[in-house]
Amino acid sequence: MTWAEEESKGTVLITGANRGLGLEMAKQFLADNYQVYGTSRKPEKAIELKEAGATVLGLDVTSEESIATMVKTLAGEPIDILINNAGYFGPKLMNQGMATIDTLTRKEMEDCLTVNTMGPIFVTQALLPNLRAGGQKKVINISTRAGIIASGGSPYAYGYKVSKAALNMVTTNLSAGLQKEGFIVISLAPGHNKTHMGTQGAPLDPKDSMPMVKQLILDLKPEQSGGFWFYTGKRLPW
Ligand SMILES: NC(=O)c1ccc[n+]([C@@H]2O[C@H](COP(=O)([O-])OP(=O)(O)OC[C@H]3O[C@@H](n4cnc5c(N)ncnc54)[C@H](OP(=O)(O)O)[C@@H]3O)[C@@H](O)[C@H]2O)c1
Repeated sequence: MTWAEEESKGTVLITGANRGLGLEMAKQFLADNYQVYGTSRKPEKAIELKEAGATVLGLDVTSEESIATMVKTLAGEPIDILINNAGYFGPKLMNQGMATIDTLTRKEMEDCLTVNTMGPIFVTQALLPNLRAGGQKKVINISTRAGIIASGGSPYAYGYKVSKAALNMVTTNLSAGLQKEGFIVISLAPGHNKTHMGTQGAPLDPKDSMPMVKQLILDLKPEQSGGFWFYTGKRLPW
């Protein structure tokens, strides 16, 4: 039986759900009887996502046309929770010679900002009618502790860190604008996980951390909107 045939608890749309944290989040929400739309740049290759029971939608968050096509496919269907998860670290992964000011390129900055900052802005904007029609009105921007300005910085990963710090500003702006309509908008740091981006040397297994992410999202209260939360439930500084 698929989610469409059962009585579902709500609808979640997760970007970049074909692998990594997005895929595990999709599985967790499906196991909790949520309907899941999982997006992928290559939907025909998102086999595991489809087999888990999600409805796979094509989406490149950097393309206006792709966003418009996805929204058209949804045909005004209510969405309770949007998880802006799709992300790009840069040409080098964590601990693999990440760009310093000496090696950073304009392309790396542009790619990070286009995927990590502008992606969530314009995906959220395009899905506002669906989210307004939804019951939970939650927007979750997957951020990172690497984007915390208060940490004092470090000399690497300029594109990633700047784009995620800017994403946190997107969160506070969206929350300020939408809270009066009952929206809850947060930034969420998922912890350092074993994925392509996080590398296999990461301490966390998404199978352990993503259930906590799912529960945090489901338990969110209006007063948490506009905040930055670690997957453990701890509040993070900007
Ligand atoms: N893993 C960690 O330790 C960690 C820590 C902190 C924060 N995060 C954040 O968690 C999120 C998920 O990361 P992950 O570890 O799961 O990374 P990942 O395994 O590298 O997966 C990234 C996902 O984003 C998608 N994506 C990249 N560019 C895209 C675009 N232009 N349009 C649509 N989708 C795009 C990828 O699709 P393709 O398969 O098509 O490339 C993939 O589905 C990211 O926002 C990341 O910054 C991760």
